[in-house]
Amino acid sequence: MILSPTPENLQNAIALLRQGHLVGLPTETVYGLGGDATQDMAVAQIFATKNRPDFNPLIIHGFSADSFKEHVIWTDQAEILANAFWPGPLTLILPKQRTAPFSLLASAGLPSIALRVPHHPVAQALLRDFGGFLAAPSANKSGRTSPTLSHHVAEDFPDLFILEGGPSPIGIESTIVDLSEGSPTLLRPGGIGREEIETLIGPLAIPSSQTIKSPGLLKSHYAPRLSLRLNVTHPQEGEAYLAFGPLSSQGNHVLNLSETADLCEAAANFFRMLRLLDQPSFSGIAVAPIPFYGLGLALNDRLERAAAPREF
Ligand code: TXA
Ligand code: MG
Repeated sequence: MILSPTPENLQNAIALLRQGHLVGLPTETVYGLGGDATQDMAVAQIFATKNRPDFNPLIIHGFSADSFKEHVIWTDQAEILANAFWPGPLTLILPKQRTAPFSLLASAGLPSIALRVPHHPVAQALLRDFGGFLAAPSANKSGRTSPTLSHHVAEDFPDLFILEGGPSPIGIESTIVDLSEGSPTLLRPGGIGREEIETLIGPLAIPSSQTIKSPGLLKSHYAPRLSLRLNVTHPQEGEAYLAFGPLSSQGNHVLNLSETADLCEAAANFFRMLRLLDQPSFSGIAVAPIPFYGLGLALNDRLERAAAPREF
């Protein structure tokens, strides 16, 4: 349902977000499907709701640059670009601090995180009163175009609580600049022109067109140090076991993604549990079969990438 952004509806939206539910919010670029970036289940719901077959990492939206600084490695270039373009249609990718509160699923297990401070007044009001961080991809089902009107969002998600914000004034997604490694790279052209950025920090590297389509997916995706064996029902002696569903074997080498075989809960636990099991005392990590539907598609996608022979 589409609701006007009255103080009461903003408070209702915030209450929903705190409970881990999702909200459709207007930004100056496109409408976002927002959830509390610190709650694993809320972030898993974003992937489930969008029907994504993969875990492409999400952009974290905050009220101000200051709200982000302690959670990333903030650089001089980040300072220059944030001063010039935030709030606004620019996303910066920066290395994450270990103590950052964001769900590991939001960054798909990557050591970097994508950050943005939107300037749409409704997004600003929501983020200010919420006081936290919202993970928000464009509010469309996977494979559909990004929504620039509230009713586009309602078409894809009729039951979603959507805040009305009028037509998105920019209408294309934010420009993404990667400051997390090496020289600054333009990962996605968008609402802020390349030239405007280059005037301030010098030339931007441009990756291949394939990388631009899906930057988070092709870049050094997270893989555990230990080798992975998939579709294992009986782990070997010495192996850690990432289980799924009701289970007979137990021990401190076993972590269960979801005892009730709930794929959303499994996605919420996935990166954290994989990390916990990735210890040199084990010979490898065996992973239980995960069904190929719903978020199981994205889980299997990540597992296959993580199990594939290493490129480095
Ligand atoms: O304008 C926008 O940016 C909109 C509004 C809602 O803010 N959001 C948006 O989100 O376009 P989304 O999820 O559709 O696109 C996010 C992009 C993805 O291509 C993802 O791969 C990339 O950001 N990304 C996120 N985190 C990344 C990371 N750590 N490294 C590389 N790429 C990352
Ligand atoms: Mg999108």
